[in-house]
Amino acid sequence: MKQILLKDGTALPCVGQGTWFVGEHDSKRASEIEALRWGIEHDMTLIDTAEMYGEGASEELVGEAIAPYEREKLFLVSKVYPWNAGRAHIFDSCEQSLKRLGTSYLDLYLLHWRGSVPLAETVSCMEELVRNGMIRRWGVSNFDTDDMEELYGVKHGDRCQIDQVLYHLGSRGTELELQPWLKEHDTPLMAYCPLGQGGTLRSGMTKNPVLKQIAEDHQVSVFQVLLAFVLRSGTVFAIPKAGTAAHVQANREAADLVLSPQEIASLEQAFPAPKHPVGLDMV
Ligand SMILES: NC(=O)c1ccc[n+]([C@@H]2O[C@H](COP(=O)([O-])OP(=O)(O)OC[C@H]3O[C@@H](n4cnc5c(N)ncnc54)[C@H](OP(=O)(O)O)[C@@H]3O)[C@@H](O)[C@H]2O)c1
Repeated sequence: MKQILLKDGTALPCVGQGTWFVGEHDSKRASEIEALRWGIEHDMTLIDTAEMYGEGASEELVGEAIAPYEREKLFLVSKVYPWNAGRAHIFDSCEQSLKRLGTSYLDLYLLHWRGSVPLAETVSCMEELVRNGMIRRWGVSNFDTDDMEELYGVKHGDRCQIDQVLYHLGSRGTELELQPWLKEHDTPLMAYCPLGQGGTLRSGMTKNPVLKQIAEDHQVSVFQVLLAFVLRSGTVFAIPKAGTAAHVQANREAADLVLSPQEIASLEQAFPAPKHPVGLDMV
């Protein structure tokens, strides 16, 4: 699988595995564990979770899924609630995430979205978590360009490794300002909802004739084209969530799907980016 370099030189597979809503239903548990393991065994070793997901249930399921694997081969990402991202709570929050995941460190810890804790305090705590070995690196999520500028203005704010934001064919607002800003500052974007939550975030997206034709031409599904579109620059990570091994396999295959410049141009025309900067889309 294609790799993307973090600022600190770490190379990571461009497609990982999301886990929102995973671990919340006993009836889906076996399939979700099988799906995560299929991914791990086929290069999708980056797993994204959060203390928010099922209030810890997702981290617990990930912990069970990864138990048989060598820890150093995995790249575990979790996120702290904004109201836990200050000195009073972040160390305990991180400790609880580590316990649920059954690990002694996170590879990446993200501030889930901006809250009222000053950025300087969160950054200072993140750096302390790095020093005491609980996390290897940190980043942010749902930060727009002005948030990133403010972050880079605080001490060690430029040590942020990732901005995880919503990005899919039907939501291209980040291409105007945020993506160029991140590129200029060597900070990769990690796309959440790269499939637009199975197409439900943008009405009619998966029925679009241009998208359907390109999928047919490659003998793949529209979801695989959606993923290939998000990955087209080679500098954006994607973390699709899949509850079955068959869906993970399709997403793994999509990581190798190359769209031609003409196909990309027709998709861009069918789903134009906004003409003027808009606020970040969030779910
Ligand atoms: N930082 C944040 O604020 C934030 C917000 C949202 C999400 N996230 C992260 O990003 C991850 C991805 O976003 P998401 O889960 O919201 O949406 P998504 O990955 O865009 O879409 C997930 C949906 O697509 C379906 N799907 C997956 N692979 C498929 C395939 N190959 N063919 C057809 N359908 C497929 C899944 O169905 P099945 O489950 O049936 O496979 C699920 O219904 C999350 O799980 C989470 O880790 C972060």
